[in-house]
Amino acid sequence: MACFFVIVLSLAVFADINPPSHGETIDPTKVATTAPFDHPGLRQTGPKTYEAYYVGQVFLWTPASITIPVGSTVTFYVTSEDVVHGFSIPQEDVNAEIMPGWVSSVTHTFTRAGDFPIVCNQYCGIGHSTMFAHVIVK
Ligand code: CUA
Repeated sequence: MACFFVIVLSLAVFADINPPSHGETIDPTKVATTAPFDHPGLRQTGPKTYEAYYVGQVFLWTPASITIPVGSTVTFYVTSEDVVHGFSIPQEDVNAEIMPGWVSSVTHTFTRAGDFPIVCNQYCGIGHSTMFAHVIVK
């Protein structure tokens, strides 16, 4: 993991190669006191549009659960307080790599009702497989 991080960081710094979804930077040691990530959660921005701010850390996503109406379009903004995580909603084809120091974003429209687990799809340590949250659409 450390090697991977050094490689990614080196590419970013020396070759200017960055994943396209990584637009904003953030100090990973100050996530808990940096708005809007000091208050992770859902914000409604229109009749059926939302922004959802998530913090990943070993081994949980915050917020643990959000509830939205069917047909909602959500832009997820996700960052990490520690290591690389993978923000994934497998049933809805949402996927973003989450690296400390960066804010990743991905937008998705939820067209069916259900309880969709958010999992972590980048190995991040011993509790990796227990790192999940829920998007409840109803
Ligand atoms: Cu977080 Cu795997």
